[in-house]
Amino acid sequence: MNNLKNLRGTVDLLPDQLIKWQNVEKIVLEQLARASINEIRTPILEMTELFIRGIGEGTDVVSKEMYTFIDRGERSCTLRPEGTASVARALIQNGMLSNHPLQKLWYMGPMFRYERPQAGRQRQFHQLGVEFIGYDSVRSDVEIIALAWDILGKLGIKELNLEINTLGDLDDRSNFQKSFLKWLDINKDSLDLDSQNRINKNPLRILDSKNIQTKKVLENAPRLFNFLSEKSHKRYSALKRQLEVLKIPYIENFNLVRGLDYYTHTAFEITSGALGSQATVCGGGRYDDLIKQMGGPNTPAIGFAIGLERLILLAGKDFEIPRNTDIYIINQGLIAESLAMDLSRKLRNYDLLVELDLSGASFSKQFKKANKLKSRSIIVIGDDEAVKGEFFIRLFDQSSNGNEEELISFENDIKLENWINNNLLVR
Ligand code: HAM
Repeated sequence: MNNLKNLRGTVDLLPDQLIKWQNVEKIVLEQLARASINEIRTPILEMTELFIRGIGEGTDVVSKEMYTFIDRGERSCTLRPEGTASVARALIQNGMLSNHPLQKLWYMGPMFRYERPQAGRQRQFHQLGVEFIGYDSVRSDVEIIALAWDILGKLGIKELNLEINTLGDLDDRSNFQKSFLKWLDINKDSLDLDSQNRINKNPLRILDSKNIQTKKVLENAPRLFNFLSEKSHKRYSALKRQLEVLKIPYIENFNLVRGLDYYTHTAFEITSGALGSQATVCGGGRYDDLIKQMGGPNTPAIGFAIGLERLILLAGKDFEIPRNTDIYIINQGLIAESLAMDLSRKLRNYDLLVELDLSGASFSKQFKKANKLKSRSIIVIGDDEAVKGEFFIRLFDQSSNGNEEELISFENDIKLENWINNNLLVR
């Protein structure tokens, strides 16, 4: 039998890599907690219809990229390609929109899209998503953009571009679409094949074609911006003004239409040149009609999702450093070993990272290991000490003060706690 391998576009995250993931996730989760955003977890597997209705049949995600299969009960199921539709479904289904019309939610987890894998693009990838449900003011648009911007800032990621656009409301869009379709009819032969195929399925997506020839031709196409109602115009101007007040720099990109059908008014992306061709680390926008379209009450909303693989690529090397071991317990001999085990359990009740050496190797080898791990302190228990019911504890950093070795009895919890408080918990 051939060696078994993972599926193309999926990735094993190994312990060394996960140090960075965990450090990054910690900062992100702290920032979300500070902004009073609550977590929601929805199933990874949903009925296919949810995404067809939620994201739109003509989108690339739904028409080409979904992992869809028939389960044993003959139901069509899909591995979620994104989180917004699932969150909307969960809120409607659990009756959460009548009692708590205003909600700020986040989720984090794997998403699945059958795309061509390349650097920064996988078939199983991870997103952190944030959704503000029931909020319709421009201030909520600004707050959500600022939140995404600040999460990236907290991770020390620099040289980011925030691109914004407005897609207007459904009426604005359908007025534009009529005129755009007429123009497309006349100009279709000058477009690339991919764009030609989109004319009937999802004409708006033609606007963000990356084909150079198509881009040039599009310069003469009607602009969605010119079809916006007075109200939509005002909304967009207010958004720009408020971003300026917060000193969040933005670039207007009238071709930013995003790949999912549910967007209205504000659409935005945050990109970084450091990511190469898959430059978008965060994408989001307003979706005022989605919840109603899915059978819920009329509920405006806005959100974004950050691609975690791309976020990890952007976060600096500082995040790759594991937390130091606080105490390394060196022990040898039968009685010492079981006392050491007992002590390690006691020590883990403090917020300490405790490593118990289980190797049974010589003292000098165990010292070397503690040194390699840069443990902040060590405990030494040999059989001599064990018989007396005692152990040595000392800081391991040769340059630090208070490097005195302390002899502590296993019974003397107060002395141990004092030593920990004075030496390890003062950082
Ligand atoms: P999206 O633009 O499709 O939006 O995805 C958001 C982010 O997920 C992208 O900017 C990218 O960083 C990451 N991403 C997408 N596909 C892949 C892939 N194949 N491999 C690696 N990373 C990927 C959404 O999903 C919307 N649900 C965002 C949203 C929330 N809008 C409103 N609320």
